[in-house]
Amino acid sequence: MPRWRGLIEEYRKFLPVTDRTPVITLGEGNTPLIEAGRLAARVAPGARLYLKFEGANPTGSFKDRGMTLAISKAVEAGSKAVICASTGNTSASASAYGARAGLAVYVLIPAGKIALGKLSQAMMHHAVVIQIEGNFDQALTIVKELAATQPIELVNSINPFRIEGQKTAAMEVCDQLGEPPTIHALPVGNAGNITAYWRGYCEYHRAGQTTRRPRMVGFQAAGAAPIVLGHIVEQPQTIATAIRIGNPASWQGALAAVEESSGLIDMVTDEEILDAYKLVAREEGVFCEPASAASVAGVAKLWRNKALPEGAVVVCTLTGHGLKDPDTAMGVSVQPVTVKANREEVARLLRL
Ligand code: F0G
Repeated sequence: MPRWRGLIEEYRKFLPVTDRTPVITLGEGNTPLIEAGRLAARVAPGARLYLKFEGANPTGSFKDRGMTLAISKAVEAGSKAVICASTGNTSASASAYGARAGLAVYVLIPAGKIALGKLSQAMMHHAVVIQIEGNFDQALTIVKELAATQPIELVNSINPFRIEGQKTAAMEVCDQLGEPPTIHALPVGNAGNITAYWRGYCEYHRAGQTTRRPRMVGFQAAGAAPIVLGHIVEQPQTIATAIRIGNPASWQGALAAVEESSGLIDMVTDEEILDAYKLVAREEGVFCEPASAASVAGVAKLWRNKALPEGAVVVCTLTGHGLKDPDTAMGVSVQPVTVKANREEVARLLRL
């Protein structure tokens, strides 16, 4: 089996790189596409369901796809420092790829509102972690203003190289399935990823690699659903902190993806998100973070509303690894029991 060289090499002809671009990679991409029959039986019995597990990327989220390219291009351009606002995963990814490239990394995060795993990643990779007493949207405004006036590269998804790298996930799904799915479901926060997937599907189609394109369906958390509501949400709230965003940067990109693909954007409640989060772990052995489960919760909602065609091939992207957010996991799980170290006590707990 040839060694996977990271997505810049594997999808080079679709990406804005040249021989002079230094490739900063951790071997991202090539994540598992897992058929999920047991989950399908529970949430959408008439569909063939697959999970694109982006938690298997090097820093545990899909952000690595965009970051390998954004950091490579920053190094090519001679940048010495990068900055981002983040609900956690972007900061973890920027910190890792920045460390690998020898860049200074500054990350702005909403104080108290990012999952522990993500914070520990940024700290370990030696980023300067700045917690603001505010939310992601405010952090994004600040870093945009700073990057416009200071010698520092912005690596949020408004950096066009982020979207370019992330589009490879759609190409990979086509390569793994042998064709595009009927429907592709994603959680939506800042809306960069749904924009990127749609671009990937369109470019692969145009290049003659596929004969059709999927319908794109995106799901926001009900307390942070500006695109669904049609207006900015000043105080977004959701347990899925990764998508706690009230004014998404790629709002227009998401609308275009949905319109052009005859898809839709809808919202799911925190309760629906947590149900899906637990089901994916219990039924399929796949541990994703809460925000990721919004895609599965959304597909379940489509099925309940009879909006999913019988026999549809559905891919749900699970955007991040469950280990990112141990606190939420511990809070929704059966707690461990503690017993004396003897066989009888343990045997009493077995229900055989
Ligand atoms: N799922 C996870 C796990 C995320 O971390 C994010 C975004 C999304 C979904 C939504 O993707 O923003 O492209 O619509 N996280 C960003 C961050 C905002 O800072 O890590 P999107």
